[in-house]
Amino acid sequence: MSEHLTVVDHPLVQHKLTLMRDKGTSTAGFRRLLREITQLLAYEITREMPLTTTTIDTPMEEMEAPILAGKKLALVSILRAGNGMLDGVLELIPSARVGFVGLYRDEETLQPVQYYFKAPEGLKDRTVIAVDPMLATGNSSAAAIDLLKEAGANDIRFLCLLASPEGVALMKEKHPDVPIVTASLDRQLNEKGYILPGLGDAGDRMFGTK
Ligand code: URA
Repeated sequence: MSEHLTVVDHPLVQHKLTLMRDKGTSTAGFRRLLREITQLLAYEITREMPLTTTTIDTPMEEMEAPILAGKKLALVSILRAGNGMLDGVLELIPSARVGFVGLYRDEETLQPVQYYFKAPEGLKDRTVIAVDPMLATGNSSAAAIDLLKEAGANDIRFLCLLASPEGVALMKEKHPDVPIVTASLDRQLNEKGYILPGLGDAGDRMFGTK
């Protein structure tokens, strides 16, 4: 992908995002909407995946038909909120391998602390799509990408629901080679590192915690 940041302004994405932002939306509704939006965003992030052709027989005749070519995919969920996006992408690309990066945010320093890392084999030969709904300070996202690069990944894309200008700037500074696809670039972060206007804590809203 050529752009560092792509904001998907499709009407369906924007409509569903408004429903997700609304604090009156139920946990079940939030989860369903996140899965649906993720699929629409995944459509954008996979747009340039290379195709080749294969010979098949339709009921009418033989044809050279397009199929995906080239590198295999790995999806990497940045725990825990990334899991809410994972299912949506996996429904579209069921053969993708899946990894997990566990980072929590130290509420004092806002810095990420790693507690889990598990990635599929052969990351260097895969296109990696890292998923996390909220690109807020960017600290966790940049740290997750650091870990993926250390594990060999060299073709990484980042899929999120909301991004802050601060998070995008940090990712551009640390990982200019990682394109970001999001549904919205929001206004700013508050003093606790939450996105404004945002949607609150994505993990809490999708899992009904807090
Ligand atoms: N993580 C969230 O879940 N929400 C924010 O606004 C920022 C980080």
